[in-house]
This record gives sequence, structure tokens and C-alpha cells, in this order.
Amino acid sequence: MKMLHLATILLTLSGVLTQSSDWGVKYPDKPICAVRGFSVSIPCSYYYPQQNYQVVQMLWCSMNSNKDKCHVPPYVYSSSSNTKSDFEYAGDDKSNCTLLIHNLQFSYSGEYRFRFMTNVSGFSWTGLPGVILQVADLKVSLIRLSGNGTLKQGDSLNLTCDVNCTHSSSQFVWSKNNEQLNTSGPVLHFPALTVRDSGNYTCTWKTNEVSGSETISLQVEGKSSATDQSIWIFVFVTTGMIFIVLVILVAVIYNRRCVHTEQLKEEDSDIYTTVQYNTFTMN
Ligand SMILES: *[C@@H]1O[C@H](CO)[C@@H](O)[C@H](O)[C@H]1NC(C)=O
Ligand SMILES: *[C@@H]1O[C@H](CO)[C@@H](O)[C@H](O)[C@H]1NC(C)=O
Ligand SMILES: *[C@@H]1O[C@H](CO)[C@@H](O)[C@H](O)[C@H]1NC(C)=O
Ligand SMILES: *[C@@H]1O[C@H](CO)[C@@H](O)[C@H](O)[C@H]1NC(C)=O
Ligand SMILES: *[C@@H]1O[C@H](CO)[C@@H](O)[C@H](O)[C@H]1NC(C)=O
Ligand SMILES: *[C@@H]1O[C@H](CO)[C@@H](O)[C@H](O)[C@H]1NC(C)=O
Ligand SMILES: *[C@@H]1O[C@H](CO)[C@@H](O)[C@H](O)[C@H]1NC(C)=O
Repeated sequence: MKMLHLATILLTLSGVLTQSSDWGVKYPDKPICAVRGFSVSIPCSYYYPQQNYQVVQMLWCSMNSNKDKCHVPPYVYSSSSNTKSDFEYAGDDKSNCTLLIHNLQFSYSGEYRFRFMTNVSGFSWTGLPGVILQVADLKVSLIRLSGNGTLKQGDSLNLTCDVNCTHSSSQFVWSKNNEQLNTSGPVLHFPALTVRDSGNYTCTWKTNEVSGSETISLQVEGKSSATDQSIWIFVFVTTGMIFIVLVILVAVIYNRRCVHTEQLKEEDSDIYTTVQYNTFTMN
């Protein structure tokens, strides 16, 4: 009887050791590229014989701080400690080990591994190899193709959006003052600027998992200051003339009104006398 029991335990143990298909962690097998300052969600799932074990602790470790080991602290996340950080666990204690990383820094680049421990001592699992995170910089640069100094009408330029990591399925979307533009691709080409091209241009970079954006402001000046001056002189003269015409009109109307009022006053005194007379006869 005792022998049999021991055999079962041994079988179970060897089952765990050889049949590792019962135990595992799944992450994306390609590196995840994300933009500095933004957030990323690292999809992750794990499995084990759920009828025999219960998960009691979930851990995420960074290979930057743990040299090839995930058995010892420090952890970027541990379900047994309550510290708040840029690393937020969005999974559960059954099968989802999704990790959110906020406020991405270049130093967060590296390999991350998920480890879970069960209620049976010695039965823990670390997902190997881990998932690779690359934190990239998103930059919008203005490349002058003609002209120098302040931007003027007729100048030509390119706005170029750069992300320093390679990603197979990424997409660039441009918008002007928060309205999406029709162009796609990392370059926005202006063959000849006009004043109406002034505005805030945002490049948004998207992959299936992440996105990031960067804005640049364009101010295009009118063609020449001579045109500006003549416009101002025109506005000034026109305003002055309208003012003079108005003054004359007001003066004429006022004069007429004075004459009219004096006539009214004369009629008023007539009425007054009549009323007084009537009152007198009533008594
Ligand atoms: C561990 O949890 C499983 C599932 O809840 C349970 O069947 C098993 O008895 C537990 N084992 C121990 C050693 O607590
Ligand atoms: C795991 O959790 C994340 C965040 O809570 C969720 O977005 C995702 O769909 C879940 N994955 C699965 C396979 O349920
Ligand atoms: C992008 O460039 C920055 C420096 O500008 C560097 O720190 C970072 O590691 C680079 N990211 C990648 C994925 O190469
Ligand atoms: C700006 O451009 C003009 C004409 O294209 C040129 O004469 C001038 O030297 C340039 N100035 C600078 C600072 O590059
Ligand atoms: C936007 O792009 C589509 C297809 O590329 C084109 O048919 C359409 O005319 C464009 N619209 C504008 C406003 O440029
Ligand atoms: C500017 O953009 C155009 C059109 O996308 C491209 O053909 C050209 O090579 C770019 N020039 C520079 C200097 O980036
Ligand atoms: C562009 O952005 C600046 C600063 O964020 C803002 O003050 C300005 O109003 C924006 N211009 C437009 C046209 O949205």
C-alpha cells in the first residue's frame, strides 16, 4: 500500500518534469516595440493542471535586475506586495498574466519573465525564454528643402516621423489640428507652403499592441511685408472714411431732431393750456 502511494507520487512528479506541455507561459515570441513616455500591454497567458494545483503567487521579473534568475527578488511585480509602480498586473490567478507598463523609459528595455507558484511546495513555473521589450524614441523632424529662416509661402519641406526600432506591421497616421489627414507613411511632403498650411501636425505611430504620438507646430508667414503694409493702409483709410461719413450723418440727424423738438414744445404748451382750462371749468 505504501509502495503504491510512493509510486503515484513519483509518477506525478515525473509527469510534471517530462510532460511540460501541462505547464507553461505564453508570450509574444517577437520583440515588442513601444514608445518612450507611453504605455504598453504585454499579452501573456499561463497554464498548469488546474484540478491539482492552485496558484498562490504571481511574479514578473526583469532580466536587467535579475541575472538569469527569477527565483529571487527584486521583482517588477509581485502579487504578495502592494507597492505601486509603472508595472501593473492586469492578469488573474488562473490563466491570464497580462502586464501593463506605464510611462515607458529607455531603461525598461530588456527581457521579462513571468513566474507563478502553486499551493504545492516545489511546484512553480517560470516562462522561458521571456518576452523582449524595446523602448523606442518617436521623433518628428522638419527638413527644409528650400528657403531658410522663418517659413514663408512657396518654401518646400518634409515632416518626417522616425521610430528607432524595426517593426514589421506598424503604421504612421498624420493629423493636422487633430483632424486626420489622408496621407499615410512616415513623410509628409509640402512642395510649396501656403499660409493655410500653418498648424499643429501630429504623427501617430501604431502597431497591434501599442501606439505613440508626437506633435510639431508650423507657422507659415505671408509672402511679403509690402503686401501686408498696403492692406493695413487700405484698412486704415477705409475705417477713417466710414468714421467721417458717420459723424456727418449723426450731425445732420441731430440738427433735424432739434428743429422737430422745438416744434413739439410749442404744441405741448398749447395742450397744457387747454388742460388747465378744462380743469378750471370743472370746478
Ligand atoms: C492545492 O490546490 C488544489 C486545487 O484547489 C487542491 O486540490 C489540493 O488539495 C491543494 N494541495 C495542497 C497541498 O494544499
Ligand atoms: C487578459 O487580461 C487583459 C487585461 O485585463 C485582457 O485585455 C485580455 O483580453 C485577457 N486575455 C484573455 C486571453 O482573456
Ligand atoms: C532609441 O534611441 C535611444 C536614444 O536616442 C536609445 O536610448 C534607445 O535604446 C533606442 N531604442 C531602440 C529600440 O533602439
Ligand atoms: C538664406 O538664403 C538666401 C537665398 O537663398 C542666401 O543668400 C542666404 O545666405 C541664406 N542664409 C543663410 C543663413 O543660410
Ligand atoms: C483621400 O484618399 C483617397 C484614396 O487614396 C482619394 O480617393 C480621396 O480623393 C482623398 N481625399 C482627399 C480629400 O484628398
Ligand atoms: C521629401 O519627401 C519626398 C516625398 O515623400 C521624398 O521623395 C524626398 O526624398 C524627401 N526628401 C528628404 C530630404 O527627406
Ligand atoms: C497648437 O498647439 C499650441 C500649443 O499646444 C496651441 O497653443 C495652439 O492653439 C495650437 N494651434 C491650433 C491651430 O490648434
